[in-house]
Amino acid sequence: EKGGYDYFMLKEIAEQPKAVADTLLGRIDAGGSLTLDEVRMSASELREVDKVVIVACGTAFHAGLIAKYAIEHWTRIPCEVELASEFRYRDPILGARSLVIAISQSGETMDTLMALRHAREQGSKVLAICNTNGSTIPRESDAVLYTHAGPEVAVASTKAFLTQLVACYLVALYLGQVRGTKWGDEISAVIRDLSQISGEVERVLETMEPVRELARSLADKKTVLFLGRHVGYPVALEGALKLKELAYMHAEGFAAGELKHGPIALIEPDLPVVVVVPSPRGRSVLHDKIVSNIQEIRARGARTIVIAEEGDEAVVPYADHLVRIPATPTLLQPLVATVPLQVFACELATARGNEVDQPRNLAKSVTVE
Ligand code: M6R
Repeated sequence: EKGGYDYFMLKEIAEQPKAVADTLLGRIDAGGSLTLDEVRMSASELREVDKVVIVACGTAFHAGLIAKYAIEHWTRIPCEVELASEFRYRDPILGARSLVIAISQSGETMDTLMALRHAREQGSKVLAICNTNGSTIPRESDAVLYTHAGPEVAVASTKAFLTQLVACYLVALYLGQVRGTKWGDEISAVIRDLSQISGEVERVLETMEPVRELARSLADKKTVLFLGRHVGYPVALEGALKLKELAYMHAEGFAAGELKHGPIALIEPDLPVVVVVPSPRGRSVLHDKIVSNIQEIRARGARTIVIAEEGDEAVVPYADHLVRIPATPTLLQPLVATVPLQVFACELATARGNEVDQPRNLAKSVTVE
């Protein structure tokens, strides 16, 4: 069943290129445009949407945080992302023109289900992004975009996350395509990049041995911090969540811009800090800012583990450990940047003698509050 791997998680990490390709399958037409009839909204309904609200929990919430950057950039529609458990107990302002997206691997998460019920009661359309056919969340939604990751057995979500990202990008690009924005050319180019991305994920997987080695060398550490900017910030949150779940270590993700507002006080000699570096192409301001953040923490003794695009030479002098990822458009970078963090957490868990597929105290699907 584990296909020769020691753990389901390893198998599922390895399956990611295929999962990503399967989620794209049939959704990009021969002309390079998106066909997403599954969204079940007419072009005029899609043009009417004046707000997108994403609700989810855990790793699916991190996918939602990344989706916000994509949706707002490509569609210019305001997008909010909220933990389902918070959303459902507020009085969120929704209406008939709000599009609510509920992201869930299992389709059975109680808080996400309650959040979508609440949204539908307010007259909003709910689109589920889900991996489990016929589960409760898609059944109760107006439409569903299935992620085709295949069954995910390990409690820690990996391939489901990458495919949730793909589904979110598809929705964002489709909304942009239908509504027509000044980003038309960029949207076509990104659709092309997305159709190649599974090969890039594969390339990352082929270079993971040094990451595993590094993880083993950190097995006795108490804390690991994760920093990122822009879409790298939710990636940092996801890296930290994986480490908590699997290695039972104290791990926190921060927006690098927040360092001086508190977290930098945590930096002490030899503290491992993972930094997700945005592409130096595209938004170079972001890149330069994070390079100075790396300098700042390294000057205080942090052991920097830098995840940066191939060809990014500016980070080299400040990286104690450098993990290379392929160049991608800025917004797609999480698809390649998350993979080393999954491998890192999985290897640390193994080195610490933890049960990888079934971490203590956790359930695969949280069907209670
Ligand atoms: O099935 P769901 O996607 O709704 O689950 C949401 C979270 O419970 C889930 O992502 C959880 O955070 C994972 N264990 C993370 O690895």
